[in-house]
Amino acid sequence: MIWRIVVALSLWNEAMELFLDAAELDEITRYKDFIDGVTTNPSIMSKYKLSEHDSLIKEICKVVAGPVSVEVISQKYDDMVREGQKISKICANVCVKLPCTLDGLRACRALSIKGIPTNLTLCFSSAQALLAAKCGATYVSPFIGRLDDNGYDGTLLVEEIVEIFYAQGYETKVLAASVRNLQHVIQSALVGASAITMPPMILKQCFQHHLTTLGLERFAEDVQKNK
Ligand code: G3P
Repeated sequence: MIWRIVVALSLWNEAMELFLDAAELDEITRYKDFIDGVTTNPSIMSKYKLSEHDSLIKEICKVVAGPVSVEVISQKYDDMVREGQKISKICANVCVKLPCTLDGLRACRALSIKGIPTNLTLCFSSAQALLAAKCGATYVSPFIGRLDDNGYDGTLLVEEIVEIFYAQGYETKVLAASVRNLQHVIQSALVGASAITMPPMILKQCFQHHLTTLGLERFAEDVQKNK
């Protein structure tokens, strides 16, 4: 607990970035006042034709000024570096998403040396996160929901990575991903995640509360009574 407070205090001036895990322009536009950036992945992008991907990313970058993570589909080092460089040219705020594999980590180092921001995805262990930081990743994305699905505690992994990066002085940001519920959001904030990405449905749940709705209905009723 004390350790958690020390970590939280050390991150005092850096508020958690909030990203939308989506590519739908209308959703991104709807929530643009809350979000600092966008994350996509091949599954999210598969709703669009491959030939439309670059123009969609350009449109997203017009709506949000912060990082827009776009994932490579290549799985071999050389191809990943080539594809990552191509992706980084779509827009200045694009962040290249790479998997936490040997090739992905090597590509992360190569792209980091060129000054290209990276987001190391499909992270399921602190050891993977440690290597991502070692390779100069801008962000590393532990997948909370998928760990929970498999009987592990995803939030605990986020906490562990935050503590390791603090203890080791790594600047790589911990981006809580695969967020499925409000508990994931609150826990990630509590343990000091630098960033979180959530689907539109979860962001919507963040501002919805049945007591707010009920309270508003009562206020409206009282206003009517006085008319
Ligand atoms: O974008 C990566 C991540 O957020 C995916 O989440 O729900 O498919 O596990 P999910």
